[in-house]
Amino acid sequence: MASNRKLLVLPGDGIGPEAMKQVRRVVDWFDKRRTVSFDLKEGLVGGASYEKHGTPLTDETMALAQSCDATLFGAVGGPQWDNLPFDKKPERGLLRLRKEMDLFANLRPAIVFEALADASALKRELVAGLDILILRELTGGVYFGEPRGVTTLPDGQKKAVDTQVYTTSEIQRVARVGFELARKRGNRLHSVEKANVMHTGVLWREVVTALHKAEYSDVKLEHMYADNCAMQLVRNPKQFDVIVTDNLFGDILSDCAAMLTGSLGMLPSASLGAPDATGRRKALYEPVHGSAPDIAGKDMANPLATLLSFAMMLRYSFDLADDAALVEQAAKNVLAKGLRTRDIASAGSTVVSTTQMGDALLKELDALAA
Ligand code: IPM
Ligand code: MG
Repeated sequence: MASNRKLLVLPGDGIGPEAMKQVRRVVDWFDKRRTVSFDLKEGLVGGASYEKHGTPLTDETMALAQSCDATLFGAVGGPQWDNLPFDKKPERGLLRLRKEMDLFANLRPAIVFEALADASALKRELVAGLDILILRELTGGVYFGEPRGVTTLPDGQKKAVDTQVYTTSEIQRVARVGFELARKRGNRLHSVEKANVMHTGVLWREVVTALHKAEYSDVKLEHMYADNCAMQLVRNPKQFDVIVTDNLFGDILSDCAAMLTGSLGMLPSASLGAPDATGRRKALYEPVHGSAPDIAGKDMANPLATLLSFAMMLRYSFDLADDAALVEQAAKNVLAKGLRTRDIASAGSTVVSTTQMGDALLKELDALAA
């Protein structure tokens, strides 16, 4: 038996808990059927934590995340918490986890499953076979830069400030991850900023260029402005392999890339820290979709993005590529059989509930492992 892996599960708000419930069934399946097992703890985050503890993330849960091998995160947020003070908002829980664990590298793959190519808003030929990876810097930039806040001016009007800041080392470490990922894939990297307008963009381009020259000249590097990148993503997405970009551009471009695949409900992500002396990285895995409060509690949500996030965890945190592939294959098979949650339904498919999707996945896993 392999040793236990310490796993923290944070279902959060909205559709987070119901999607996570199905993934927990898959984790249990692994416990029973495979050699890998998990020492699993569950905690509150976001609005759920605020309701119980008055804060979107307690120090205890933060410490638990620090001590676990990996965290699987659901989603946070909902309209009932929209008017809370800034530091109590559900999203602060997620941002605190990212920042305090220093999870600077956010991997957001956008892969078109063959069975879903027609669900994309783009023509099939533009997206069929698409497999790109957006690498978003996650702990710097305008999300955390100081000064930030709202002040009142002498004339009574208000002034709001956010600050975009990047240092050489922050750019270097994420660019390095980008080059390494590109080498394992199509060997092409697009570095995306706005060097035509922003000082951080100029520095970004300078640092990436220098690193490329010094250590990664075998990788094909191209620089692109962020606005052009948004346009190119919908014009001809297959020109990209890996895109490395800052926190805010990465937030926007990854939603755009997500929709190329047909549904936000399909997309997983991994947020990784720097490797420690043993090579282990702190890590958090989460679906790219949000809490979708409009469909929460209705057993309609798509659990596949959370499931595929769990697969990424198996691959990146636990080096269990075969088990990750098994999970991914189960998801593909279920889709190939025409089963769809409502978000990815199309003519001729069978619309299933969140729970039924979980049932079908377990059946597929049983069949694949038989
Ligand atoms: C994301 C989300 C978050 C972000 C929100 C929930 C804080 O949009 O992970 O893309 O802006 O980073
Ligand atoms: Mg986002």
